[in-house]
Amino acid sequence: MIDELKKEIEKVRKDFLKEIDQVLSKENLKKLRDKYTSRKNGIVTEFMHNLKKLSKEYKPIAGKIINELKLNIENKFKEVEKSINSKVYKKVDYSLPDFDFSVGFSHILSDIGTEIEDIFLNLGYEIAYGFEVESEYNNFTALNIAEHHPARDEHDTFFIKDFENTILRTHTSPVQIRYMNEHKPPIKIISPGKVFRKDEPDATHTPVFNQVEGLLVDKNINFSHLKGTLESFIKSFFGGNIDLRFRPGYFPFTEPSAEVDISCVLCFGKDPDCKICKGTGWLEILGSGMVHPKVLLNCNINPEEYSGFAFGMGVERIAMLKYGIPDIRMFYDNDIRFLSQFG
Ligand code: DAH
Repeated sequence: MIDELKKEIEKVRKDFLKEIDQVLSKENLKKLRDKYTSRKNGIVTEFMHNLKKLSKEYKPIAGKIINELKLNIENKFKEVEKSINSKVYKKVDYSLPDFDFSVGFSHILSDIGTEIEDIFLNLGYEIAYGFEVESEYNNFTALNIAEHHPARDEHDTFFIKDFENTILRTHTSPVQIRYMNEHKPPIKIISPGKVFRKDEPDATHTPVFNQVEGLLVDKNINFSHLKGTLESFIKSFFGGNIDLRFRPGYFPFTEPSAEVDISCVLCFGKDPDCKICKGTGWLEILGSGMVHPKVLLNCNINPEEYSGFAFGMGVERIAMLKYGIPDIRMFYDNDIRFLSQFG
């Protein structure tokens, strides 16, 4: 008799738990409440009524079991009501597909910048920053680029309206001036940053691009220090199998000046029709030289006592060479299919 009742009660409990698990709204909660506990014909209420019919012997035992069920059900109602009210009650469907959750990644140019910085940090350099808005003095004059020097035209400068002698820097070389005005040798810095030139965008030009400048000034610095430094940089960056050569060049702020070429990363000089090196076997990658004595003097550094070397390279250009990227505009088109190849 009691065993039967227990079984019945267990079934009610199970059914109830199944049903309440589906309840998400107040309306449905009320319906379920009525079904189980309404005074008239709630399932649990019926059990209570039927208690009266039982003999004295069974009444207390059965009463206890039914009461337990009643308490369980009431507590569960309270619990579910609370979650519905706090609106956090959500039914999770674990069978739904997950979100397409992709984490971002740094831009290829940032990565190349970091790679260059790391190589020079390992060589004992510090990183210095300049300003994108510069004075004509720092950008040209102090770097020994005279007022009517053709190099000023070559740089095709953006001028800042209403501010005299104020421009967007055309190269990172003015950081040399800023740094030497504030620090005395020994100086050993690189300076990455954006530069600006009035160029029409094409496969190799954009009006904004990135450069990294290098400057080392100390006692007894000579051209072999420059050579050794650039050689170890280029071999770390492009790989040990890459050769480099120095060609005489001209920059007003270095004397002597040298342009540096690397052996073609694509054909190694073996393909006369090579698309990258045009069959020459060499690719120009940076400008460099021994800091001009006038530049040192402009920064109150005695050229009799100190000498130094400097170099400057285009970040986009060396990234294009390293990865065989044919068009500089691809860095800025923000086509994720292109950029994600480097992420
Ligand atoms: N500033 C030069 C340019 O933008 C690059 C350069 C050449 C930097 C020679 C240097 C250097 O420091 O020594 O074309």
